[in-house]
Amino acid sequence: MTNLKASTGPQFARIMAVGSATPSRVIPNEFLLQYIDSSDEWITQRTGIKERRWIAEDENITTLSLDAARSAIERSGIAADQIDAVILSTISHYHQTPALAPQLATELGIPDAAAYDISAACAGFSYGLAQAESLVRSGQARHVLLIAGETISEITDLTDRGTAFLFGDGAGAVIVGPSETNGIGPVVWGSDGSQAGAIWQTRGWQEAVAEGTWPKLGMDGRAVFKWATGFIAQAAKKCLDEAGITADELDVFIPHQANDRITDTLLRYLKLPENVVVARTIRQLGNNSAATIPMAMDALLTSGEAKSGQTALIIGFGAGLVYAGQVIILP
Ligand SMILES: CC(C)(COP(=O)(O)OP(=O)(O)OC[C@H]1O[C@@H](n2cnc3c(N)ncnc32)[C@H](O)[C@@H]1OP(=O)(O)O)[C@@H](O)C(=O)NCCC(=O)NCCS
Repeated sequence: MTNLKASTGPQFARIMAVGSATPSRVIPNEFLLQYIDSSDEWITQRTGIKERRWIAEDENITTLSLDAARSAIERSGIAADQIDAVILSTISHYHQTPALAPQLATELGIPDAAAYDISAACAGFSYGLAQAESLVRSGQARHVLLIAGETISEITDLTDRGTAFLFGDGAGAVIVGPSETNGIGPVVWGSDGSQAGAIWQTRGWQEAVAEGTWPKLGMDGRAVFKWATGFIAQAAKKCLDEAGITADELDVFIPHQANDRITDTLLRYLKLPENVVVARTIRQLGNNSAATIPMAMDALLTSGEAKSGQTALIIGFGAGLVYAGQVIILP
């Protein structure tokens, strides 16, 4: 039998740099009270959210994704032509085809990159990171640009008391490249399609066209809350185990920002020491779906609360239902 050559790559990969982009419109809780029967107090107490950012007229998923990507590329110090693959994680791009990633790659001056979109909702960053790490370590890409970009405000039903206050827009991006030491622990991931109705697009394309309506996000908040505080807590612990570290060796915890009370429950389950820095960007940014984790990572590094070289546990969960997490070394 013919022996085909196999690609080989470096033993380890790491996140070399992170960047993010936040849209300009600040939407405080009070703004939403014209649409839903609620209060600033209820939203703050039940979720932690005080405000979120939504796109203005001159902003969209492309502008946010490009801004985040440019920042990550610049900080990484590599040239655009050293990037071989561009992955965009999103559930809010308007077009099912073509993917947006090829257009982003071209706009960024990255020549002839493998470029594609993935749809893993709020777990999308960790799903993409697992792919990026594998592409680098297998030698199929020297560097990967992973972007998570979302404009969930455009699919939010402002009259829905269960979701109107939760989501925000934004983008985060990282460059993944080769490393002397391991910077990305094994991914812990999975899915449960029987829970497809827990978070869903309220109308498929055919129904939307027939009705002349725009699809929105729907959610069974209680079911998701229960899943996140039970199953996802165990998955987060597994991320530490798979990376071979204990809670005492962790510096930073960046869980998906879905609800501050979910984060509190995860903290109790994991028994993280007091000195672990915990992302709480939900208070100012809401839930940015796939973009949440890289946006929170950038915010913690920029503010100085977290430092390059520290160990961080990241875990995302959302529509599918899907989840994914890993321990990383911060860029
Ligand atoms: C959405 C969420 C904040 C709702 O909070 P909750 O405590 O579950 O709310 P419930 O639906 O059980 O309702 C509790 C009470 O608040 C009321 N309520 C519901 N929405 C309200 C709102 N927007 N404003 C004020 N009151 C509200 C309900 O009527 C109910 O009142 P009652 O006790 O008098 O019957 C919460 O379920 C949640 O965060 N779920 C997980 C979301 C998530 O992780 N999503 C992931 C997406 S990736």
